Amino acid sequence: MTIEGKTVLVTGANRGIGQALAAEALVRGAKRVYAGTRTEQVQAAASQAGSLDILINNAGIALPDLLTDPAVLERHLAVNLFGTHAVTQAFLPALIRSRGAIINILSVNSLAALPLIPSYSISKAAAFSLTQSLRAFLAGQGIRVHAVLAGPVDTDMTRGFDIPKASPESVARAIFDAVDNGEEEIFPDPASAPMADSWRNSAAKSLERQLAQLAQAAPVTP
Ligand SMILES: NC(=O)c1ccc[n+]([C@@H]2O[C@H](COP(=O)([O-])OP(=O)(O)OC[C@H]3O[C@@H](n4cnc5c(N)ncnc54)[C@H](OP(=O)(O)O)[C@@H]3O)[C@@H](O)[C@H]2O)c1
Repeated sequence: MTIEGKTVLVTGANRGIGQALAAEALVRGAKRVYAGTRTEQVQAAASQAGSLDILINNAGIALPDLLTDPAVLERHLAVNLFGTHAVTQAFLPALIRSRGAIINILSVNSLAALPLIPSYSISKAAAFSLTQSLRAFLAGQGIRVHAVLAGPVDTDMTRGFDIPKASPESVARAIFDAVDNGEEEIFPDPASAPMADSWRNSAAKSLERQLAQLAQAAPVTP
């Protein structure tokens, strides 16, 4: 799906990757870009926004911990998993109407934990699983669901890490290029890009497809 002419909502758009995504969407000719901020109430925003083509779940937190305090894990899950879930559910009617797209900004830590930030890693792994289920549930309604599995990006979130980082602008461009190409998993920076081919040919990706087909063939009513 191309961005030109589309209405786009980016959560966490006041800085970092979210700000770069909102700016790049405008460069690519988006008709309207909603920049979601922390103070916004999800349901109120959904009812005001009206139509929406592309939802980008970008807002997130990453705090170092040692898995000793369950409150830290709960905080990560509240933002990175339940926040993504709540925003998606609120905007789903609009996305169904437009046969739109959802782009969840996840991390290479969705695939492998970084033990410096284990609660973050758990929350991003859970958000990846959410992304896979949404993809299967929504495919029949024409909605594409993308997972962005990013490596280190130069934002406030990684300020304490002295490692090579991609610029948020280059990552935003790579994300929209990959969405144009219909890539389900997006590896948008030099650290993550080498994983793209092996992921697409992996047993895990093959199993995702098999399980989605199984669920389609034998749906269960909750
Ligand atoms: N930077 C990286 O290396 C990297 C790598 C892989 C994935 N990611 C992911 O990319 C996304 C953006 O990260 P970033 O690096 O741009 O981080 P950032 O610069 O720290 O920005 C985080 C954004 O999320 C918003 N946010 C945080 N908690 C929120 C809440 N409870 N409700 C609403 N908004 C909230 C922040 O709003 P405020 O300004 O109000 O705090 C801010 O706009 C995150 O999901 C992150 O996990 C980042």
